Amino acid sequence: MKPVAWITGAGGLVGSYLVRTASRWGPDWDVRGLTREDVDLTDEATVRRLWREHQPALVVHCAAISRPAVCEQDPELARKMNVDATALLVSLAGDRPLLFFSSDQVFDGRQGWYVETDRINPINRYGETKAAAEQLVLSHPRHTVIRLALTAGASPTGDRSFVEDMRRSAGAHQRLTLFTDEFRSPVPAGVVARAVWELIGQKRSGLYHLGGAERLSRMEIGETLTQWYPELASGLRPGSVSAYRGPQRPPDLSMRCDKLQRLLSFRIAGLRSWMASRQGQGRDLWDYPTTDLNP
Ligand SMILES: NC(=O)c1ccc[n+]([C@@H]2O[C@H](COP(=O)([O-])OP(=O)(O)OC[C@H]3O[C@@H](n4cnc5c(N)ncnc54)[C@H](OP(=O)(O)O)[C@@H]3O)[C@@H](O)[C@H]2O)c1
Repeated sequence: MKPVAWITGAGGLVGSYLVRTASRWGPDWDVRGLTREDVDLTDEATVRRLWREHQPALVVHCAAISRPAVCEQDPELARKMNVDATALLVSLAGDRPLLFFSSDQVFDGRQGWYVETDRINPINRYGETKAAAEQLVLSHPRHTVIRLALTAGASPTGDRSFVEDMRRSAGAHQRLTLFTDEFRSPVPAGVVARAVWELIGQKRSGLYHLGGAERLSRMEIGETLTQWYPELASGLRPGSVSAYRGPQRPPDLSMRCDKLQRLLSFRIAGLRSWMASRQGQGRDLWDYPTTDLNP
């Protein structure tokens, strides 16, 4: 009998990729993908009951209030889910490995190309909840935190990734202002899934950054996507974050991933090179074919 692995947030973007790729990259696990329909992770009694039933030997915790705007609107919910529910899983897991997804948003974005030892300084509630949860997770030597960059892909609900957001706006004929001076290191979700499964296989713990190898401005990200989605082109408009009047935004959240890269059997692709490598291959852009060894 294989040991049970819980993947929370299985109905979301990253969790769904991990479940989908498990047969190839995590074949030693009996993977139980938990969606919100299976369990509300803020309901402690139900989580405890399910834990006793499944006795998971591994937890990959993807479930979260992942939209910064929702965290601003409902900070109590954000704390309950992103911190308290994580604390419960950490305590249940004990000595069993647990992997938690944090975010590049724990940084203030004034520096860019962040490494794991750089000082964190979140400037929004989402980042604050992630920073608090990181501490809880890292207090246990067998647990792992992955600080994830902006992730591209296709989610089961079709409304989770920034690619889906942009395509929806284009479909509604909305114009999108994309900053030329705000930077991220976006990464395809298939790359995330493979890297995570490899890390799990190596029984690694500790803190790792995971983002694409390229630092791209929001506008460059948009332009890259237009090669696959030409319908986006007419709606994109370059802008500057200096003219933005909303809440403060971290300008450069690019991350260096050398620590993780050294452990992996494949190169972590940047979004632009990933997309270029897919041109003319006649397959779904966001799919991760399990035979691909070096995208
Ligand atoms: N995607 C990115 O660009 C990105 C970047 C950096 C870090 N991260 C982090 O990486 C992790 C995975 O992100 P993601 O993009 O896969 O997020 P996602 O698509 O929003 O998925 C999160 C999942 O968690 C579920 N969830 C929320 N509250 C729950 C609750 N009380 N009980 C059970 N399930 C609940 C959501 O269900 P509902 O759909 O019903 O809400 C959703 O299916 C998250 O921790 C996120 O903060 C993501």
